[in-house]
Amino acid sequence: MDSNRHELGARELFQAQSHLYKHIFNYISSMSLKCAVELGIPDILHNHGGQPITLPELVSALKIQPTKAGSIYRLMRLLVHSGFFCVTKKSTHDEEAYCLTPSSRLLLKDNSNCLSAFVLAMHDPAFSTPWQSLAGWFREDGHITTPFESAHGLNFWDYGKQNPEFNTLFSQAMASDSQMANLVVKDCKPIFEGLNSLVDVGGGTGSFSRILSEEFPSMKCTVFDLPHVVANSPDHTNNLNFIGGDMFQHIPPADAFLFKLVFHAYGDEDCVKILKKCREAISSKSDNHGEGKVIIIDIVINEKEDEHELTEAKLFFDMLMMVVVTGRERNEKEWQNIFLEAGFNHYKITPLFGLRSLIEVSP
Ligand SMILES: C[S@@+](CC[C@H](N)C(=O)[O-])C[C@H]1O[C@@H](n2cnc3c(N)ncnc32)[C@H](O)[C@@H]1O
Repeated sequence: MDSNRHELGARELFQAQSHLYKHIFNYISSMSLKCAVELGIPDILHNHGGQPITLPELVSALKIQPTKAGSIYRLMRLLVHSGFFCVTKKSTHDEEAYCLTPSSRLLLKDNSNCLSAFVLAMHDPAFSTPWQSLAGWFREDGHITTPFESAHGLNFWDYGKQNPEFNTLFSQAMASDSQMANLVVKDCKPIFEGLNSLVDVGGGTGSFSRILSEEFPSMKCTVFDLPHVVANSPDHTNNLNFIGGDMFQHIPPADAFLFKLVFHAYGDEDCVKILKKCREAISSKSDNHGEGKVIIIDIVINEKEDEHELTEAKLFFDMLMMVVVTGRERNEKEWQNIFLEAGFNHYKITPLFGLRSLIEVSP
């Protein structure tokens, strides 16, 4: 008889089997969510006159064959179980009907914090294919920097440059993520107050800078990103403009440099190079007396303090950064090491809501 069975007993073995199956099939959860977004289910629920929607009503609004009703029921059953929708009884009849939860409200088109673009981009084959190459990448001799490059023959940034559709999808995803910053910018006011100028380095299409420029009208905001990313940038305003360039070559001078979700896409050596470019930009500005700061919005891993689900989401991001780019998520000590290495001696970490923290860094 198998010695494992003696040690664990059948009950524990079946628990272990369920645990394994749950993780084997984790992709079904995310693919079902993607399907709901593609079908527009959150918006259909939202636009149902504020009333929960029954299965026949949902099938009719989806404009799909009634023969698919049973399959929609099964899709919804899983998504209810995962907390994306809930089931309630319609008051007049005893009929069950679906409604939104806080998570699916984040997928509504007319919600300024809509994350649907993020769901769709992260399931694009450009993102999912490299996972098939992960084990092969571990085994190969080390000359290919990421599984993304193994799969696509190009690094992530060059792939975006050569595939405008993917570039747009990715930029929309990042912009949708940035929109939620509007919920915390007011809480972070003291960090930006008094600044005359700020460069949002790797600022994408500028959705975070737009929020800042509206909140701080006397601060001149510059979105600095790769030329193909800012090529179709929206109109400049009085205090918001866009510049194309390479942060490894030169960063325009300013009082402060914002990096939202940029450092996590790079290895330590590259982060130090970028921070040193910030130091050069600080010293090249004649009216700041050598003073200036770097403001980072990024993930800080803190397994001791964070809840299990939050740490898991942070570790997923860490794996994503390994597979897609050359980056990583860092704990406080790892952040401190790169700051010190680049000649920045002071830093302060303030956890924001959710996955991100705000880190203020100065020389
Ligand atoms: C993960 S995205 C973050 C975008 C934006 N900060 C946000 O949070 O929505 C990283 C950004 O860095 C930009 N980037 C990558 N390499 C760059 C470089 N060498 N110089 C300037 N920007 C770069 C990318 O184009 C991309 O917009």
